[in-house]
Amino acid sequence: MRRLWCVWTLWATGCGQALGKRAPDDVPLRALADKAGLVVGAAVSWEPLQQDPGYAALAARHFHVLTPENALKWAPIEHTEGARDTRRIDDIARFAARNGQSLRGHTLVWDLEIPSWVDTADAHALDAALVSHMRATLSENRGRVGVWDVVNEALADDGQRAPTVLHNALGEPHIAQAFRLARAEDPDAKLFYNDYGVLWPGPKADGLLRLVDSLQAQDVPIDGVGLQSHVHLVPEGRLDHAGIRANLKRLGERGLELHLSEVDVRVADLAGGHTGRLLAQAQAVYGLVDACLDEPACTTVTFWGISDRYSWVDRTIGPDDPLLWDDDLVPKPALFAVQDALRGKPWRGCSDSLLDGSFEAGAAGFSSTGGRASVERGGTSEGRHRLVVTDRTEAWHGPQVDASEWLAEGLDYRISAKVKVPKGAPVNATLRIEDAAGTRYVSVAAAQGTGAWQALSGVVALDLHAPVGSVHWYVEGPPPGQDIELDGVVATVACPSG
Ligand code: G3I
Repeated sequence: MRRLWCVWTLWATGCGQALGKRAPDDVPLRALADKAGLVVGAAVSWEPLQQDPGYAALAARHFHVLTPENALKWAPIEHTEGARDTRRIDDIARFAARNGQSLRGHTLVWDLEIPSWVDTADAHALDAALVSHMRATLSENRGRVGVWDVVNEALADDGQRAPTVLHNALGEPHIAQAFRLARAEDPDAKLFYNDYGVLWPGPKADGLLRLVDSLQAQDVPIDGVGLQSHVHLVPEGRLDHAGIRANLKRLGERGLELHLSEVDVRVADLAGGHTGRLLAQAQAVYGLVDACLDEPACTTVTFWGISDRYSWVDRTIGPDDPLLWDDDLVPKPALFAVQDALRGKPWRGCSDSLLDGSFEAGAAGFSSTGGRASVERGGTSEGRHRLVVTDRTEAWHGPQVDASEWLAEGLDYRISAKVKVPKGAPVNATLRIEDAAGTRYVSVAAAQGTGAWQALSGVVALDLHAPVGSVHWYVEGPPPGQDIELDGVVATVACPSG
């Protein structure tokens, strides 16, 4: 997997000292979460926990609670009728105990993990097998599992009960019966309903509310709801953060504890550069953690994995980078976004520049679209270096930088610069985009030259179409023969205010 680009590894390793405003920060997430009053967790997989020391170290260091990704599901435990195999969950439980961590039990009742030997056509047989499995699992894990996803994914996208094997065979009551059985078998565990596609308002979220209201009206012992939060940053690449907050609020008003229980953010099909895609992911993760912090009922954020190297997404959907550490277990911008949120700080992507436009250490990747570009000492308002483009024979000749790596759809960007051109000359900042939709030009900023140093800044929301060939930011405008001077170029994600 590609190594991280220098800009963010400055956030992890301090490379690119010219940009490095932040020392490497390996503080345990659980320590930051303790101060923020949040529980932070991760799903863990048995194999890498045994075989990958780097993964195991991250699992031990950063999380209060571990969710066995598969080891507590019915089919893996009772692969053969009557022969329960709890070796994996026992290993994970020992690992958690060694590291002062609790377990989040996932999941007792789920249609997709019924062992193949169960005769699902015979409702009585299915019910008997399920009850036996639940009783055994609750008993085996009593005292080491603090929260159970009792029932997982029983709703359809339209908010109605999903026509699952369990629903078709056992009917609506099977959900309430499962919660009552769980309470009876383990009175100390918190009992949750868990589902996906219920994070922001919509038919399924409304169906979840109806389910919760129905269970509460029957005095079913439900303590909370897990909103899985598998986010797919499709072309818009934007989460409805206001909608998410409103949705959390209305669930919290029912007295339920809320967990963001399976957070991952898929970015592979976002058009743009790798850096940009991971910035979109970081902004989304920041918004989710921040929303949970701001909702009193939301107590826990659990990520559905630790490293991209072992994500279910790659195995099930295709290559992607949905988690906080990359394939090489190197921290990603999303991890730093979690740190920023837990520290109660704005997301750093809103202020840290994505390029070095100071020219103090040379041209820093800048060139010219025509004419001759050179870095000259002094001459700026602060006596700093500046980039000068001379010998311009076309109005569009000027300083440029390749922005392909750090621009991606789904984000707004603020690109600011200081320019110096002759008084009265037009001067524009432009993006040249070459992608699947062809070549086009997007104006970032336009001004009239003053003959002195002046600001040339603007915000752009990119509409890119994969595959993206290249995106360049450049300054143009003055007539041929006139020089363009450039300094202080800063590119950040343009974050919504407030
Ligand atoms: O370990 C066996 C391996 O020995 C065997 O060779 C291989 C052959 O298919 O299967 C392996 O088990 C797979 C297991 O993941 C471990 O990789 C199962 O087939 C596969 O079905 C299982 O998928 C899991 C999936 O739930 C279904 O249980 C994913 O890892 C897991 O991330 C995913 O997690 C779900 C949550 O439980 C509920 N919410 C959605 C979330 C994502 O789908």
